[in-house]
Amino acid sequence: MRVFALSDIHVDYADNAAWVAGLSRSDYRDDVLILAGDVAGTLGRLQDCLEAFAARFLRVLFVPGNHDLWVIREAVRMDSLEKFDRVVAVATASGASLQPFTAGPLAIVPLHGWYDYSFGEPDAQLQAVWMDYRACRWPEGWRTQDVAAHFLGLNATAPPAPARTVITFSHYLPRLDLMPPYVPPPHRLVYPVLGSATLDVQLRRLGSVLHVYGHSHVNREVRIDGVTYVNNAFAYPAETRIAAKRLRCVHAG
Ligand SMILES: [Fe+2]
Repeated sequence: MRVFALSDIHVDYADNAAWVAGLSRSDYRDDVLILAGDVAGTLGRLQDCLEAFAARFLRVLFVPGNHDLWVIREAVRMDSLEKFDRVVAVATASGASLQPFTAGPLAIVPLHGWYDYSFGEPDAQLQAVWMDYRACRWPEGWRTQDVAAHFLGLNATAPPAPARTVITFSHYLPRLDLMPPYVPPPHRLVYPVLGSATLDVQLRRLGSVLHVYGHSHVNREVRIDGVTYVNNAFAYPAETRIAAKRLRCVHAG
């Protein structure tokens, strides 16, 4: 059994949906796919994509990303908490799982999240351009930090049974130093909305040795204090230099 990692497939783009449709139906039947969020802006496209992956892999493990909780393109009015519930229902019905997965000595644990400004405060420019501020809808009075606390509070806190190799995954970055030093200063505008330092506390409490994350669209593998962090975002069609545009095997055996 191999474990593959992928995130930010964004099948709202026809090129990305075509890549999913073109994946082999026979090569991955004994393998697990970690799908670390940002599948689609609508439930219909989410369903189509998860069904396509579920038809190809033994198991698809999924956490929603911010785009998966956008509500502005849905025909039915809902807030992003209701959308989360519907995303969970659609994912489960499509054959994907949002639950911890174990196979022999291996445990794979999903971590929900949101950004909580632990990487910095958003400035006026970011607040003007970041779509989540308009595309998501939260209960009256909820601050962004309350959204993050809500989702981080859903996560498992107890390590899986001892002697297991633990892999964790989240959509959001667990630490800001996963961003490579070559990122030009104008692009650092988005750093406050990249993730939450609490995720790193949680994954280390779980005993993770490998953490898959998405959201930044910057492919990367870094080892920090005993944990290997991997980003394999498919990303937007134009992002050909920072994304590998292929499945990445992160564990075999
Ligand atoms: Fe994202």
